[in-house]
Amino acid sequence: MAIKTVLRMGDPNLLQQAEPVAQFNTPELHALIQDMQDTMAHMNGAGIAAPQIGVSLQVVIFGVGSNPRYPDAEQVPYTVLINPVLTPVQDEIEDGWEGCLSVPGMRGIVPRHTRLHYTGFDPFGNSIDRLVSGFHARVVQHECDHLNGILYPMRIKNLKDFGFTDVLFPNQDFQDD
Ligand code: NI
Repeated sequence: MAIKTVLRMGDPNLLQQAEPVAQFNTPELHALIQDMQDTMAHMNGAGIAAPQIGVSLQVVIFGVGSNPRYPDAEQVPYTVLINPVLTPVQDEIEDGWEGCLSVPGMRGIVPRHTRLHYTGFDPFGNSIDRLVSGFHARVVQHECDHLNGILYPMRIKNLKDFGFTDVLFPNQDFQDD
């Protein structure tokens, strides 16, 4: 296990298209996922994509557990998602605040599809097929954007909706994602 350095916005590696994983259940794949998990936990993130630790493969992990400070926050089951395919359900879009481990200390309002069908594989090659909405749908779209070289500030419609977390929300803690 290892905590890796998370690449920050400006690094050209974050702008690449990631390659699909060709072989499941290999020691290399499990080691990558362990590194991502350790790094995400260390940084208190809600999700992380392999390109953020410099590995250009289509692997994301995400999950948001219960937090006694935010009893109303939506939980997202811990998921390792490989070679994902996202299909929006309906055209409905909603705005919401996002942060990112690669853009530390900042938050912005990003439009995302409200409802989403996604498929992919777990580390053993078992298929994943889910219909999700709300925060779960937002987190998946954010993480999978990393696999296409897209960082959330690129999706902000109005840069007035972008700023430093501690200035925007002086009395709250936030998880980065
Ligand atoms: Ni991110």
